[in-house]
Amino acid sequence: MMSDALILATDSALRTLCAEPRASRATPQAAHAGSPLTAAEKREAAALMRVNHVGEVCAQALYTGQMLASRDAALRAKLAEASREETDHLAWTLQRLRELDDRPSLLNPLWYAGAFAIGYTAGKLGGDRLSLGFVVETENQVEAHLNSHMQRLPEGDTASRAIVAQMKDDEVAHARMAEREGALPLPGVVKGMMKAAARVMTTVAHRV
Ligand SMILES: [Fe+2]
Ligand SMILES: [Fe+2]
Repeated sequence: MMSDALILATDSALRTLCAEPRASRATPQAAHAGSPLTAAEKREAAALMRVNHVGEVCAQALYTGQMLASRDAALRAKLAEASREETDHLAWTLQRLRELDDRPSLLNPLWYAGAFAIGYTAGKLGGDRLSLGFVVETENQVEAHLNSHMQRLPEGDTASRAIVAQMKDDEVAHARMAEREGALPLPGVVKGMMKAAARVMTTVAHRV
């Protein structure tokens, strides 16, 4: 069992970090074409989309860790469904980064490893309901963070905005799914630690 888990984890890591992610849904399109971006706007938009791409790398790792830690087949199926939407997000943010002539974070293997360890440990030590609590809190924090990006993205970058808006809707749905499945509320200190870790990640990924 342990070796199976290791193989699946390695496979997921390699797919996330090395393979071309394949979206199951079309990239969300803006209703209006937007306006040409200045060099500075393009750099800022790319930095924000790189942060979002890192978030999606972490989502792949978290959900994979949690799936491998759970023995409940029905729950694993729900997590797999959410993680398929995260793969769409991964593909969309990567595509947008390239359109903005920029690159993903160089530290993605590190982000993946950290998030996987957290997801797996939460599932193994805390059990399914705590693990689901983790999904709720993560998705809530991501939603808040994507909201802030809607303020920060250049007004003319309607392409990035359309992607972020769809991601936000999906993340909210993931949180509601986890609540329906019986998520336990996390202790405030854990929520605080998650916020602190997310702050480090977003600050670093903005640049590197
Ligand atoms: Fe996502
Ligand atoms: Fe999500």
